[in-house]
Parts: sequence; C-alpha cells; structure tokens
Amino acid sequence: MAAKPLTIAVIPGDGTGPEVIAEGLKVLRAAASVYGLKYKLTRYNLGGERYLKSRETLPDSVLSELREHSAIYLGAIGHPEVKPGILEQGILLKLRFELDQYVNLRPVKLYPGVPCPLRDKGPADIDFIVIRENTEGLYVGSGGFLKKGTPDEVAIQESINTRRGVERVIRYAFQLARKLRRKKLTLGGKTNVLTYAFDLWERTFREVAREFPRIEAEYLHVDAISMWMVTRPERFDVIVTDNMFGDIITDLGAALQGGLGLAAGGNLNPEGVSMFEPIGGSSPKYAGKGAINPLAAILALKILLEHQGYPEAARGVERAVVAVIPRLKSLAAGKMGFSTRQVGDLVANALKTKDSLKK
Ligand code: IPM
Ligand code: MN
Repeated sequence: MAAKPLTIAVIPGDGTGPEVIAEGLKVLRAAASVYGLKYKLTRYNLGGERYLKSRETLPDSVLSELREHSAIYLGAIGHPEVKPGILEQGILLKLRFELDQYVNLRPVKLYPGVPCPLRDKGPADIDFIVIRENTEGLYVGSGGFLKKGTPDEVAIQESINTRRGVERVIRYAFQLARKLRRKKLTLGGKTNVLTYAFDLWERTFREVAREFPRIEAEYLHVDAISMWMVTRPERFDVIVTDNMFGDIITDLGAALQGGLGLAAGGNLNPEGVSMFEPIGGSSPKYAGKGAINPLAAILALKILLEHQGYPEAARGVERAVVAVIPRLKSLAAGKMGFSTRQVGDLVANALKTKDSLKK
C-alpha cells in the first residue's frame, strides 16, 4: 500500500458532473474503510456556472494549487449557455496541456452482463486499452482564419507533432503492453495521406520497438482500426494513436463496452499530476434528475486508485461494479431501474460485503 496520503483535487464541473462525482466519492469512502487508505479532498468550482458569473475559466491561482495535489478527479465540463470551445479549451484542454498529461489512457473493456452492440462478441473479445496522445496534434489550436467572413475565407488548423511528444507516449504504450496479456502494440495512423505527421510517428514507433523485442509491434491505418474494432476487437491489446484519432476511436470503444455510462479514462502525467474522468459529457438534459449512470465516474475512480498506488482498492472497486451491473435494468440514463444515488449505494455496499472481496 502506498505510504503517502492521497490528496485529491475534486472538480465536479457542469451538468451531471456533480451527481456522478458524489457517487464516486461515496465509493472512495467505502474503499478507504475497507482498504485502510487515507485521503484528503479539496473541491474546486470550475465550469460553466463560474464562467457565466465571472468570465473565469481556469485561473492561474487554481492551476498552481492543482499542481500540489496527488491527483485530480473531474466530473464533466460543458454548459449549454456557453459557446462551444470556451470551456473545453479554457478548462479541460488547458488542464491536460498545462499539467502535461501526455497520456490519455482509455480502457475498452466489456464487463459480464453488459449488452454489447456486436453480435457474437463477449467479455473475452473486448478488452484492450487505447493510449491517446493528449497534448499535441490537432488539439494545440495552431492555425487561424484569413479573410474571415468573406467568400475568400481560409481556415487553417494544423497538427503539431514533436519527436519528443510522440516518443514519450509511444514508449509509455510499449511499457504498458509489456504488462498485458497479448504483448502486442498497434500504432494507429494514416501514413498513406498524412505523410509528414505519421512518418514521424511510424519512424519513432519502429525505433522505440527495438527496446521492446518481445512486444509484437504492428502498424495499422486508423480507418482500418475502426473496422477491426467492430469486426475483430479481440485482435487488439494496446492501441497508441494521436490526439484526434484517439478521440474518435475511444467513442467507438465506449460504444463497444456498453456506452458512455461505463467509459472512463485517465489523463496521465507519469511524472506529475494526473486527472481522472468519466468520458461522457455533462449531459445537461439529465442534470439534477438523479437519472445519470454513475458507473463511469466510479470506474474513473478505479483508474485513479490504480495509478496512485492502490491496486488492491482499485480491484475491489472494479469487482463491486461488476457485481452491481447485472442488477441494473439498463445502463442508459433514466432506464437503470435505480437512481444515480442508489447505484452509488449498491456499489459502496458491494465493496463492503465479503462476497465481492473474495478472489
Ligand atoms: C474527450 C472529449 C474532449 C476531447 C472534448 C470535450 C474537448 O471529447 O475527452 O474525449 O475532444 O478531448
Ligand atoms: Mn471525445
């Protein structure tokens, strides 16, 4: 068990974020009592409401406080009354970039009893991890307009790929693949069209692969990856790709594992402060109704515990989630047969009962 106490900065955020984070924290309390872990929470009010009141997104003072924590637990960012881009760039992407969280780790894992949209595929077939580069590519906001609003308007949006940025995320993916069952890493790119960016990616991939002779290293175009994810997901173990492609294929991955109600991820800076979040958005339509599924946020907590040095507690949380899934009528918001809070209670109770601790 890790020695230093966990200090967690909690950003509930917008929409259904606060509701799902409350359930995650309920499960954290249960895990703390069962596994004897100590933690301290500090809450930060960031998101659409704060922006609408004060025009502040992520003040520097908050950012420097966040740097002092062991980890960040984030609900959701996004508000229907704020123009798209402002909160995403001003809070979510700024956190990822400023804290240099260069690995976006998104497991795609089908749990038993979860309805899968793929016929004939089960939990043994859908179990891989996408490593998405999280600080570069099309996301850096490089570009601009020329002659905006005229018939001659030009819009440029450039993908920035640095040797250092590409190499560090690829190396992380190889190290991860070494720990997984198939010992296989797939690079997803588009070397046939994006002949500069993915030339750099593929050359770097081949060079780093030499440090990992026991890992099978394959390259696939990302369009082919999206096809294989649907027809033969069992062929993947770890997929590493750039920021934009990673964004797209992880929503596809979320659909394979039962939808956004279950999809979670970590924005990791292996040498710094990491941030953990459910990957569905703020779902304003369901906000305040107690209808949203908190399991994704609870699984984000599981990834947090795993990466902060509490693997046993992480496994306990995962087992509790697995025990609760069959009790829900559906995983979709409003159709679970339970409220958001009740699902949190079920998981916290499952965590505390002996049954789920066995194994
Ligand atoms: C995600 C989201 C974000 C992204 C948006 C909200 C900026 O879609 O975390 O996948 O594109 O990274
Ligand atoms: Mn996305």
